[in-house]
Formats: sequence, C-alpha cells, structure tokens
Amino acid sequence: MNFTGKTAFVTGAARGIGQATAVGFAKNGANVIIADISDMTETYEEVKKFGHGVMQVTLDVSNESDARKAVADAEAQFGKIDILVNNAGIFPLADFTKQTSDEWKRIIDINILGRCICHKPYCRL
Ligand SMILES: NC(=O)c1ccc[n+]([C@@H]2O[C@H](COP(=O)([O-])OP(=O)(O)OC[C@H]3O[C@@H](n4cnc5c(N)ncnc54)[C@H](O)[C@@H]3O)[C@@H](O)[C@H]2O)c1
Repeated sequence: MNFTGKTAFVTGAARGIGQATAVGFAKNGANVIIADISDMTETYEEVKKFGHGVMQVTLDVSNESDARKAVADAEAQFGKIDILVNNAGIFPLADFTKQTSDEWKRIIDINILGRCICHKPYCRL
C-alpha cells in the first residue's frame, strides 16, 4: 500500500503490534506519530530510517489532557491526522477475582476510555 502524504498516529508504539504498525506505515510512505508510555527510541530509530516525518510523544492514553495535547501537537506539525491506530492497551494476566478495584479501573481507563485518544465528542479519528 502507498501512504505517501498521509499521517498516521500509532499509540502503544514502543513495541509489539504498535511498533510493527508504525514501521509498516513509514515503510509505505507515511509520516508517523508514535506515542507510548514507555521508551520509544527503538521504534523512533526504525521509523526515521524511511526518511518521512516522525514525531514521538510520551503519552499515557488514559490521561485526557495529555491525549488532547498530543493530538493538537501532531496536527500542528503535520496539518492533520489521516489514520489513527489506537493500539495501546494492557492485558494483565491475573485472576479476575483477585483484582482490586483500582486495577480494574486502570484497565477500563486505558483499554476503553483511552481508545478515544483525542476525547473529542463525535470524533472522526
Ligand atoms: N498480542 C496479542 O495476541 C493480542 C491479542 C488481543 C489484543 N491485543 C491488544 O493489542 C494491543 C497490542 O498488543 P501487543 O501484544 O503489541 O501488546 P504489548 O503489551 O507488547 O504492547 C503494548 C504497548 O502499549 C503501551 N501502553 C500500555 N499502556 C499504555 C498507556 N496507558 N498509554 C500509552 N501506551 C501504553 C505499552 O508500553 C506497550 O508499548 C494491546 O492493546 C493488546 O491488548 C493483543
């Protein structure tokens, strides 16, 4: 596929599926914004090799104001975001019956509320 001129925003891009997705977009011509709560140096270096625009944002997707700022910064740099891969998520391998309410809330905050990264009503992303 050819994503030349498109801009992709990938959360959870430090490793795994998000990293592969970010590199895949760059390989196929896109500018890529990578966002993660963890260190993204490896992804950044890989994405940069393809010579298109790249921006990294340290972001906890469950933090609404940080998510809004990350989207605004990305739009300021690249004009608009064409593709959003809301991949960041956690999947604790723990006995559900032993989870605390705080642990459960954290899963909801990241995996469900964090899915709408810009937290805009009626968002097109
Ligand atoms: N791998 C699988 O088999 C599988 C199956 C079903 C669903 N998923 C989902 O697909 C996504 C990617 O899977 P993966 O295997 O690459 O996961 P992974 O755990 O390897 O990577 C997830 C990334 O998300 C980041 N992240 C976690 N919480 C974050 C937060 N609050 N804000 C920003 N970044 C955060 C982590 O730092 C990590 O880099 C996850 O949402 C996962 O739950 C994966």
